[in-house]
Amino acid sequence: MASAKKDEPHPLTSRVKFRLSNRDFRARAHSNPLNDGNFDVPSRPSEVEWRKWFDLESATSEGLRARALKEEVDVTRPEWVDIGCGYGGLLAEMSTAFPDKLMVGLEIRDRPLQFCEERIKKLRKEAPGSYGNVWYIRTNVMKFLVNFFEKGSVEKMFFCYPDPHYKKKKHRQRIVSMQLLAEYAYVLSPSALVYVVTDVEELFQWISERLTKHPLFTQLTDEEIVSKFQDKLSSQQHSFAVAKITIQSLSIL
Ligand SMILES: C[S@@+](CC[C@H](N)C(=O)[O-])C[C@H]1O[C@@H](n2cnc3c(N)ncnc32)[C@H](O)[C@@H]1O
Repeated sequence: MASAKKDEPHPLTSRVKFRLSNRDFRARAHSNPLNDGNFDVPSRPSEVEWRKWFDLESATSEGLRARALKEEVDVTRPEWVDIGCGYGGLLAEMSTAFPDKLMVGLEIRDRPLQFCEERIKKLRKEAPGSYGNVWYIRTNVMKFLVNFFEKGSVEKMFFCYPDPHYKKKKHRQRIVSMQLLAEYAYVLSPSALVYVVTDVEELFQWISERLTKHPLFTQLTDEEIVSKFQDKLSSQQHSFAVAKITIQSLSIL
């Protein structure tokens, strides 16, 4: 089979081969979320100008506009949030698969965030009309999440490979704690889903324990995950799925 021409969207996934290397955007491995507070922060969610970052006029936003009419939802602000998005690969992939959803990645480190922005700008150029539904913001989720999102506005929240912070004295820097879960619950919509992926067993236990203990979250059974579970959920609770994955399965993510 002849290989697709360079820069042409993949015929099945409309994925564009992207050549910016994240080697050019190397960052220090960690940023201290307990100290890092030097960001531009909106004083309240209504001040966030999402339109500035999303391209809501493009052809691929048709689905979004249709949803706005049909579901009477505000489709000018993101419903899917990737917490600690790193170099932003997850949302860049999901953007074309779910063009009728607005999604945003939040990242504390500046170099990865710069990479995310460059990538999306480049992808938008290479595939006009696509990737208008995704953007990334540099912020400290532990401090400023509620400055960006209205109560009950987020439908999906992703925690992919959160920093493990192995040492006990660093556990306070973990992105999941009882207190942070209360903040996440505040911005999540009643039937929202939280996705957690980690390959660190100890962190997996830590996150599971807290989510299980927290009164505002309920764990989905495997059956609920695969069936149409949302109808069955209590309107007062958010749900979460904690995935245990193996190194082999990483390649399919
Ligand atoms: C191990 S990386 C995983 C990145 C990405 N989710 C992935 O799967 O490749 C964890 C990311 O979370 C970011 N992070 C940690 N604490 C954060 C915070 N308080 N606010 C925003 N981002 C944070 C880190 O800078 C890092 O990029």
